[in-house]
Amino acid sequence: MSQPLTHLGDMPIETFLRDYWQKKPLLIRNAFPNFEPPVAADELAGLALEEGVESRLILQSEDKQDWQLEHGPFTEEELTDLPNSHWTLLVQAVDHWVPEVADLLAQFHFVPSWRMDDLMISYATDGGGVGPHYDNYDVFLLQASGSRRWEVGGIFGEESPRRDDTPVMILPEWQAEEVWDLQPGDMLYVPPRVGHNGYAVGDDCMTYSIGFRAPSHEEILDGFAEFIGKSLLSEQRYTDPELTVTANPAEIDADAIKRVQAILQQYVNDPAKIGEWFGRFMTDPKYPDQLEADEEIEADEVAELLAEGVTLSRTEGSRFAYIAKENGYSLFVDGQCFECDSEMEALVKTLCSAAIIEVEPSDQNVGLITVLLQLGSLYFNE
Ligand code: SIN
Ligand code: CO
Repeated sequence: MSQPLTHLGDMPIETFLRDYWQKKPLLIRNAFPNFEPPVAADELAGLALEEGVESRLILQSEDKQDWQLEHGPFTEEELTDLPNSHWTLLVQAVDHWVPEVADLLAQFHFVPSWRMDDLMISYATDGGGVGPHYDNYDVFLLQASGSRRWEVGGIFGEESPRRDDTPVMILPEWQAEEVWDLQPGDMLYVPPRVGHNGYAVGDDCMTYSIGFRAPSHEEILDGFAEFIGKSLLSEQRYTDPELTVTANPAEIDADAIKRVQAILQQYVNDPAKIGEWFGRFMTDPKYPDQLEADEEIEADEVAELLAEGVTLSRTEGSRFAYIAKENGYSLFVDGQCFECDSEMEALVKTLCSAAIIEVEPSDQNVGLITVLLQLGSLYFNE
């Protein structure tokens, strides 16, 4: 698997993270010199025909007033009967299907891998694009083929006006502050909430969007509360043994609020619990149905294959992360947590980042690998 980039163009990654990441857009000319797109247009169209692959088609009128959105999977006829210009086909999570694309994504692991979401590919004919909009996530927009004009400008949010007569988000008060034409190998970084509008200049415009995950506060509060709630007993309740007579029976006084605050704090002040929830949450697979569980495989067979030196790979789209603890590791795989002792350090780290996973067939290792194979998060390279 490719190593993370150390530079974006001439800029060291450290400088990028300090001055641009989550702060301001950056155009990187020739970020990938002599870039050869790993997915051809007809291959992308082929993916859009498949059940289980998330794809969209956005058609617009030439004056960009009317927008139409269709969801895949599409039929071959639908894709061949399209107009000559002003449409774009978007295919989500191509890294889940094409190992070369997963390898390209690995070059962005200068950001933690659990922060990454997926790599989407768009294919547009002349003038095609998704219109002026903003995203709540950082995105790297890598030009893979053809040319795209990117307009960038302004900070937007939920309160910003948007057209209510279109199926896609269109910011009606769009004004570009900067405009760049990107050629193959050029890349644009756009932070969350920064408005952007890209459209193909000429045909055969392919853009790769490297997108990230950033849970909303609502998701964090809901998710953590649900996780903690599952382990609580109904006897654990609000208590007030120190209650005294009150002159104002309807008043919820400061002491009552403090008691509730203390209950909440008790859970929030537990970094181990937060870690356990967050690791599971951030490794939740994007498409859980895509994991092919292999309930048949058993430890004996696994031990034999490992002893023969057969290597393993992470299933494309499977998400791995770990937390180092005082006495071992919590390994998170596709939303599940596995406690591993310190001796398993090498295995935990290899599982999370090696392209080709080689494993010593010790009993402990075989146990974990068997479960991960059964889940469908790993597969043998036979
Ligand atoms: C596109 O590739 O057309 C859209 C990507 C984006 O704006 O995030
Ligand atoms: Co966008």
